[in-house]
Amino acid sequence: MAGRLSRLVLNLRRNLPRGTPLDRHLQRFGRLAGFVGADLDLLAALYGTDKFGEHEYTPVYEGLMRASRRKAVRLLEIGVGGYAGALGGESLRMWASYFRRGRIFGVDLYDKTALSAGRVQVFQCSQVDAAKMTELAKSHGPFDFIIDDGSHANPHQIETFGILWPHLKDGGSYVVEDVQTSYWPSYGGGPLGTPGYEKSCMRWFKELADSVNLPEFLEPAPGPGLDAGIGSVAFHHNLIVLKKDLAERYSNFRLDDPAVRGQLMRPPA
Ligand SMILES: C[S@@+](CC[C@H](N)C(=O)[O-])C[C@H]1O[C@@H](n2cnc3c(N)ncnc32)[C@H](O)[C@@H]1O
Repeated sequence: MAGRLSRLVLNLRRNLPRGTPLDRHLQRFGRLAGFVGADLDLLAALYGTDKFGEHEYTPVYEGLMRASRRKAVRLLEIGVGGYAGALGGESLRMWASYFRRGRIFGVDLYDKTALSAGRVQVFQCSQVDAAKMTELAKSHGPFDFIIDDGSHANPHQIETFGILWPHLKDGGSYVVEDVQTSYWPSYGGGPLGTPGYEKSCMRWFKELADSVNLPEFLEPAPGPGLDAGIGSVAFHHNLIVLKKDLAERYSNFRLDDPAVRGQLMRPPA
């Protein structure tokens, strides 16, 4: 039933310009829907963010966020929407409506600070301005959820993770949206097997996924990059989700025993 309603609203929204009376009614209904516990599919459709419909991200977010819905979470989203033209803010409104006690922080390259109101605070900053982003994260974090829906440029996705991951709470989730750009040279990626892909976000996070097995390594990890605090990495269609888990993990093998290590180092006969 809820699913059918979300699709119905999506259809109503098709080709609907922002600021029309119907758009305003749908957004107003969004506040009420959040209040009575509507899911993220419906809220996305009501507020008009493409996280549902154009993309199928909200079902993934629902799984990540449902348990925290009533908590006073801190959520940071890079990319407010609208680029240099419209003001955007559709997803920020959705998050604020979903997390009724949550504090929502938005960052955009363009000035969208006029959207700051109540529990929503918006900053103008490039996602790769390490000094400003760190200052912002220190003042308003640590965060329960961090979402990168900014430029979608591959070097930015990787760099932003490096800046913001330390500001995610233990148990929190970090999401990178629209990672299809990994396969597109115009965003700094490239088709599989090309040098562009080797520098892409997907390639980088796939390598980072080895972090979850750090306690099983027989040799120290070569070079920096892996992070023992990465509890899981999940790849969805166009979406990467990382969870932070600072609990100590141990191998079920006695890898500190040189004899065991020696045995495991030997290739099969
Ligand atoms: C896809 S839109 C965000 C949509 C919004 N999150 C939603 O779901 O409704 C991307 C936004 O990222 C912003 N952006 C682009 N490059 C950026 C950068 N380097 N730093 C921060 N924001 C950036 C754009 O101005 C644009 O508003």
